[in-house]
Amino acid sequence: MNLFNSNRYNEMKYRRCGNSGLLLPELSLGLWHNFGGVDTFENATNIVLKAFDKGITHFDLANNYGPPPGSAEETFGKVLRNQLYGYRDELIISTKAGYRMWPGPYGEWGSKKYLTASLDQSLKRMGLDYVDIFYSHRFDPNTPLEETVHTLNQMVLQGKALYVGISSYSPEQTKNAIELFNQYRTPFVIHQPKYNMLAREPENGLLNVLAENGIGCIAFSPLAQGLLTDKYLNGIPSDSRAAKESGFLKMEDVTLAVIEKAKALQLISKSRNQTLAQMAVAWLLARKEITSVLVGVSSVNQLMDNLAALGNAAFTADELVEIDRILG
Ligand SMILES: NC(=O)c1ccc[n+]([C@@H]2O[C@H](COP(=O)([O-])OP(=O)(O)OC[C@H]3O[C@@H](n4cnc5c(N)ncnc54)[C@H](OP(=O)(O)O)[C@@H]3O)[C@@H](O)[C@H]2O)c1
Repeated sequence: MNLFNSNRYNEMKYRRCGNSGLLLPELSLGLWHNFGGVDTFENATNIVLKAFDKGITHFDLANNYGPPPGSAEETFGKVLRNQLYGYRDELIISTKAGYRMWPGPYGEWGSKKYLTASLDQSLKRMGLDYVDIFYSHRFDPNTPLEETVHTLNQMVLQGKALYVGISSYSPEQTKNAIELFNQYRTPFVIHQPKYNMLAREPENGLLNVLAENGIGCIAFSPLAQGLLTDKYLNGIPSDSRAAKESGFLKMEDVTLAVIEKAKALQLISKSRNQTLAQMAVAWLLARKEITSVLVGVSSVNQLMDNLAALGNAAFTADELVEIDRILG
């Protein structure tokens, strides 16, 4: 019996990831926050299942997501075993390694020792034979890039990852990595940068490098961790990421200047019959370099709100000029 909406793949749009054979949904779900051991398992399960029911095939994890680190992969593994059993071939599951995961000199960065051990641990936590995408989570200035790239290539040869990606590498580091990946013919298909209306760094070269080389781009923190939603417009709610001890958004990030921008942007979103969150997602999807927008959510309602952005992702030239003016 099919437990999920049988029309889900017609309702979602899928974009090609660069020049590769891989298609990703316009909206993907990230499990950085809200899926850890400190969070409610039932809520986490409901979000994953609703996402899948809506045609979201791509779920993004990392070794350290939690807290505690590793627990988001365990949560996801449980949902896979309990409710998504039998659907593995309809899913694109990614994980990463790069940040501190265990003590000692082999618990972070980009060495073969760390990356190899970390992927094996991730596979165990999720109960998987392979991930669809494995990422180097950050550039390591002290390990030769050849070693990191060679290790990612080995993972593909060993069948532990189908594709590989890099995250938060600069345009120059990305170019160097592409050259090395090309030597091995590694299926390096995707870059994961932070990109949103308040953080436009990828426009300074990275998007061009990716487009020129046929590499896909998935934007993380598209809502600036919630700042580009109506959540903080009237203060800091007690159940918000900024108010939580374990969250990466700090109270001091919710500045007057950011809230003023968000309020001005919200006026434009209203004139488009969208919420601010929906407009922030749509603004990214309007760029042809973007393969997918990687949101995080703390509830099924937020997920549904963000999904509704997909029907209205075109902007007039006037709207874009006005948005640029607000963003300064
Ligand atoms: N590669 C990397 O280094 C890296 C770094 C960061 C993130 N990521 C990936 O990107 C994913 C997304 O990052 P993110 O969680 O920072 O994304 P985000 O989408 O910018 O922020 C998510 C937060 O925004 C709020 N939110 C979402 N939808 C909302 C809505 N419709 N209305 C009101 N509030 C809403 C929620 O905050 P509340 O919890 O306060 O409700 C939610 O937890 C991560 O899960 C991870 O997979 C990767």
